[in-house]
Amino acid sequence: MRLDKYLAETAQCTRSEAKTMLAKGRVQVNGAVCKKGDTQLKDNDTVTVDGAPLRYQKFVYLMLNKPEGVVSASTDKRDTTVVDLVGDAYPRRELFPAGRLDKTSTGFVLLTDDGGFAHDILSPRHHVSKTYTVTIDTPLTQEMCTGFAAGVTLADGTALSPAEVTALSPDGCTVRVVLRQGVYHQIKRMFGVYGAGVNALHREAIGGLALDAQLAPGQWRELSDEEVAKITR
Ligand code: URA
Repeated sequence: MRLDKYLAETAQCTRSEAKTMLAKGRVQVNGAVCKKGDTQLKDNDTVTVDGAPLRYQKFVYLMLNKPEGVVSASTDKRDTTVVDLVGDAYPRRELFPAGRLDKTSTGFVLLTDDGGFAHDILSPRHHVSKTYTVTIDTPLTQEMCTGFAAGVTLADGTALSPAEVTALSPDGCTVRVVLRQGVYHQIKRMFGVYGAGVNALHREAIGGLALDAQLAPGQWRELSDEEVAKITR
């Protein structure tokens, strides 16, 4: 790859900003100042800007704690989107949410520009679990537990895959739900079959990766390679 393109992609800047960095002598290749943007990099070359090494990332993976009232989309005419919350941090990346949470739901949304990965984790064939803490307006019943485990049939006839539900609070109104598919308003519709309403819904984990408790609503951070691997593990 050409040095100027590499700089733009790793340092998240435009090609003209990369040109300025080069002209100012801020860029070194294997320890020597290099001012030529058309330099072809080899696999093992080390590039630094102001002495700090750059890391090439083919794709970006972010964990975001979605607040209530924000929509799971890239753009929206009226509402703030999960991508808006990331601001200008990745001007050259086409980020999108891999899977949706309702506007009223909160918790773990994965943002990425890796379409293949998003497709894999959303495909029911790959069985990537999504774990939610849900507050319902009536206590969990044995009928709900048995029905979820067998696979709920929704009011419109859609037959869902088996899901897990367990009570988390003594009153049975706070429950954990684990899904391995993603149907529109799935949890609300599943409880609706039993006449129960959902008051709050928070996604705690995707696959083997839990939402970082340090992230306040609206905050996000990059995932490490190990964390990305945990999603499908
Ligand atoms: N199920 C729902 O009903 N809503 C969500 O946001 C996620 C799962």
